[in-house]
Amino acid sequence: MKKAFITGISGQDGSYLAEYLLNLGYEVHGIVRRNSVPEHQQSRIDFHRENIHVYYGDLTDASGLERLLKKIQPDEIYNLGAQSHVRISFDVPNYTVQTNALGVLNILEAYRNACPEAKFYQASSSEMFGSSVDEDGFQRETTRMTPVSPYGCSKVFAYNLVHNYRNAYKLHAANGILFNHESPRRGSNFVTNKVVKGAVLIKKGLAKKLEMGNMDSFRDWGHSKDYVRAMHMIINHDIADDFVVATGTTHSVREMTDYVFSKLGLDFNEFVVQNPIYLRPEELPYLRGDCSKLKKTFNWAPEYTFETMMDEMIDFWMKTL
Ligand code: GDD
Repeated sequence: MKKAFITGISGQDGSYLAEYLLNLGYEVHGIVRRNSVPEHQQSRIDFHRENIHVYYGDLTDASGLERLLKKIQPDEIYNLGAQSHVRISFDVPNYTVQTNALGVLNILEAYRNACPEAKFYQASSSEMFGSSVDEDGFQRETTRMTPVSPYGCSKVFAYNLVHNYRNAYKLHAANGILFNHESPRRGSNFVTNKVVKGAVLIKKGLAKKLEMGNMDSFRDWGHSKDYVRAMHMIINHDIADDFVVATGTTHSVREMTDYVFSKLGLDFNEFVVQNPIYLRPEELPYLRGDCSKLKKTFNWAPEYTFETMMDEMIDFWMKTL
C-alpha cells in the first residue's frame, strides 16, 4: 500500500485528491491548521474522516513537518497548502510569502532530511505568468513569468526552489502549473462559486444584488477533479518535470456571470453592481493555458467542459441553499 502525505488536505483540491488516492488504495495522511472553530476545519473531508490520518501542522512550522515526514515515511508528498486567494495576498503579503514561499522551503528541507526517496508535487500556479502571454495567445511551460501579485511572486519563488532542490539534491520534485480550477467545493469568495451562490440567492428571493470586482479579466477554468488526476500523473512520471494543466479555453468573468444568470432565467445586468473593494491593486487580465505537453506525455484529457462544470455548481447551490 502506497502512502501519500498531503498539505492543504482540507481544501478543494486536497479533498478531491484524498478521495482519488483512497480509491486507488493509498494510505492517506494530511495536515490541517488549528482553527478556533473546529467544525470549519475539516468539513470537506468529514465524510472520509475515518479513512484519512489527519494531524495538526503548518507550512510555517518546519520542525513539525520534519517530525511528521520522519514518522510517516510517505511515498508521495503533495504540497497543496497555501494562502491561495490572490486579492487577499495584497492585504496579507507577509503572511502569504511566509506560507507560500518560505513554507515550501520548510517542506522541501523536511523532505530532503526525512524521506528523500519519496516523490514531491508542488502546486504551482498560472498566476506566476502574470502579464506574460505568448504571441499565439497562450501561456505554456516556456512562457516568461512576470507575476503581478504577492501571491504570484510567492509561487514563483517556490517554483524555482523546486527546480533547485531537484537539481542540487537529485530529488524527484515536480511542478504542476495549474490554471484556475473550480467545483462545488470551491471557496465561495473565488469568483465562480461567488457568482453561482449569489445568483442562486437572487433566484430564490434571498438576495437583491451581487457585488463584484473586475468583470473584464479572462480565465481558463477547469474542474478540480480533472486536475487532481493530472497531479497524480505528474508526480508518478519517470522524470521529475514541470507541466501546465489547463483546458485551453478562456472566458471573461462577464461571460461566466452571464452564463450562470441566464441558466437561472435571469439577466445579470439587473443584479450585478461593482464594488471597488473587490478590485485588485494590480490585475492579471488574461489566462489561457496550452497543456500539449501534459496531453502528449500522459494522454490526459478533462472530463468536464466549462458548461458541465458550471451546471454542476448551479445544481449544488440550488439544492444546498
Ligand atoms: N474573487 C473574486 N471576487 N474575483 C473577482 C470578483 C470578486 O468579487 N469580481 C471579479 N473577479 C475577478 C478577479 O479580479 C480575477 O480576475 C478573476 O475574477 C478570478 O478571480 P478568483 O476566482 O479569485 O481567482 P484568481 O484567478 O485570482 O486565482 C485563482 O486561480 C489561480 C490560478 O491562476 C486561485 O485559485 C489561485 O490560488 C490560483 O493559483
